[in-house]
Amino acid sequence: MTKVLIAAISPVMDAIERTVATVSQAQVVGTTDSVREAIDYCSQERLDAIIVDETLLIDSWGLTDRLSRADCPVILVIEKASAESARRALAMHAADVMTTDALPTLLPALLQRLHPQDTNQEIVHRIIGVYSAKGGVGKTTLAVNLAWNLAKLSGKSTALVDLDLQFGDVGPMVHDHPDVTIQELVEGSPKTIEPDKLARSLIGVDRLPLDLLLAPINPQYADAVESHHVRDIVTHLKASHVYTVCDLSSGLTEQNLSAMDMADVILLLATPEMITLRTVQRSLKVLGTLYPADGKIRLALNRADSGVSKEQIQEFLGLPVTYWMPSGGVTPVRSANSGKPLVVVDPGNVLAQAIENVAKALIEEFEGQSRKTARKEQV
Ligand SMILES: Nc1ncnc2c1ncn2[C@@H]1O[C@H](COP(=O)(O)OP(=O)(O)OP(=O)(O)O)[C@@H](O)[C@H]1O
Ligand SMILES: [Mg+2]
Repeated sequence: MTKVLIAAISPVMDAIERTVATVSQAQVVGTTDSVREAIDYCSQERLDAIIVDETLLIDSWGLTDRLSRADCPVILVIEKASAESARRALAMHAADVMTTDALPTLLPALLQRLHPQDTNQEIVHRIIGVYSAKGGVGKTTLAVNLAWNLAKLSGKSTALVDLDLQFGDVGPMVHDHPDVTIQELVEGSPKTIEPDKLARSLIGVDRLPLDLLLAPINPQYADAVESHHVRDIVTHLKASHVYTVCDLSSGLTEQNLSAMDMADVILLLATPEMITLRTVQRSLKVLGTLYPADGKIRLALNRADSGVSKEQIQEFLGLPVTYWMPSGGVTPVRSANSGKPLVVVDPGNVLAQAIENVAKALIEEFEGQSRKTARKEQV
């Protein structure tokens, strides 16, 4: 059954209800005149679609932004086509947009399309840590561009957390002068992190279902973020976001280990220089003992087209190279200087493409796994 929630007011509400009633495998699980209520409902219950009356969104770009991060498709119903409505539909990543008059023609087919897809799909929530014991090897470049791609390609809610607490530079790379960071979240050393306060500390990214939690601006506040805070933050983000990417610092600190404990995958970054490989090897001894599960620690080779060969690296570290990223020339540095991610500034760059492939592989793996689990449960 396709479960639908309607957020609308009369007469649009009546028109939508009448149309949904004509679709045998669709069921209206609730109606409301509050978009906020609809979004809250969607975060708690499995829904196949929210149908939203545009009238409820007039003058509220905040709600439009929240809808863009909803975990289910949003269908926007408008009175008549206009540039403003098109912008709104784009901003909320609407699955479809239709006028009230077109409802009887377009909505039934759309609901039928949503039906088989969603009955086979269970939403997976995954944590990906990006780590290297060596500084300057491209952790933040990978974390930022990976998060961007996961959000864009999957269309699912994604969070990027800068856990390089002393010198984190996700902010300068993508969002200068943040008005809120993790520092405000842990102010007063709370025993636990409240999900509401965490939600208020996230910075949304325009036109993407992506939220950022940035590191403190001044390094002296790094110690205020304790390992139990990190555990709480990652736990809450795992519940509210489908993908969470953590950019970690180079030390094997308590905070890093808290995040790594919770991670499904740790992308261990190395570059093909012996000095870096030796450091990575030493950290791998510890990580391999802490996380012996097959496939949790995966080697990602950056600037892979130079220096020590892939075969020698695999032999030296005793770990296969799972992801391969070449040198992107000067553009990655230029993009970092411009405060925009490489995948935005130059999506055709070889490094941008390689990171896009990492994201595609992870989405395929995670979402493929969830489809298999869901099918098994149905048998
Ligand atoms: N494959 C690549 N090709 C070209 N430039 C790259 C590549 N990977 C990273 N860089 C550049 O190298 C610099 C360091 O990268 P980045 O900041 O991502 O490393 P990091 O591991 O996060 O460093 P830190 O340990 O200081 O946090 C950046 O200017 C980045 O643009
Ligand atoms: Mg970094």
